[in-house]
Amino acid sequence: MTKFILSSILLVALASSEVSGQFTDSCTSDVYAKIKQCYVTYMAGYNLTMTDTIPEYWAFHFARRDLLDADGLHIQPYVCQLGNSLSDCLAPYSCMGPNAYMNMNAANTTEATDYWIDLAVTQYQCGAGYNCKYYALTMTEFYCMAFCRDRYQPNIDQCDAQAVIDIGNGMDPCAAQQKDFNCQAAIYRNCCDFNAGVYICNVDLAGSKAVNPACVNAGLVTCPAPR
Ligand SMILES: *[C@@H]1O[C@H](CO)[C@@H](O)[C@H](O)[C@H]1NC(C)=O
Ligand SMILES: *[C@@H]1O[C@H](CO)[C@@H](O)[C@H](O)[C@H]1NC(C)=O
Repeated sequence: MTKFILSSILLVALASSEVSGQFTDSCTSDVYAKIKQCYVTYMAGYNLTMTDTIPEYWAFHFARRDLLDADGLHIQPYVCQLGNSLSDCLAPYSCMGPNAYMNMNAANTTEATDYWIDLAVTQYQCGAGYNCKYYALTMTEFYCMAFCRDRYQPNIDQCDAQAVIDIGNGMDPCAAQQKDFNCQAAIYRNCCDFNAGVYICNVDLAGSKAVNPACVNAGLVTCPAPR
């Protein structure tokens, strides 16, 4: 699933929070060494060699996407196996945040933010989003959403662009985010079915929560229940 949803989340996240500033999370150097080891193992699962420097985010993203493109749906359990192992490996380190990627020599805060969002989205897609019955029971939805993504990419981008404009015009950022999520969900709902829209909304929500938890935690950005 990851191949076709991340880019718009990134835009949402970047549009709606001050992520280009400094990160405040911090761990001890012992913990950073362990976090790095989690990523070394994770990257090896994609045949990406890592020693001290985490791969460029989009290089990693494309390696994963190429695997999904080449092998389709049946590779998703492998992608999630890697993702869940990473989550388990990182679970003890609640100090972790985007600064962990700076510690792994990420080139800049955008790269660090992208990795941090990717982790949150992976945790949703391979956890609640993977196991919930409305997704797991409709495997063809995978292909439908992939198709919609390709077919309606400009429209999806337009949802994000509109959020940037709305915020610029003084709209409440949480309201602008909700509007953006609704806009994306409508595209998937019309293209696949209601629950595809719910799924995309929850993916967006997971990404948003990673970088800009205020709106989500205040209950100002929500998704409908699946049917
Ligand atoms: C990694 O490389 C090995 C050996 O070439 C190959 O069998 C395997 O499919 C590759 N794995 C991925 C995830 O690309
Ligand atoms: C951040 O680093 C990446 C990878 O080197 C680069 O492609 C990107 O343009 C950089 N972004 C900024 C805002 O500097």
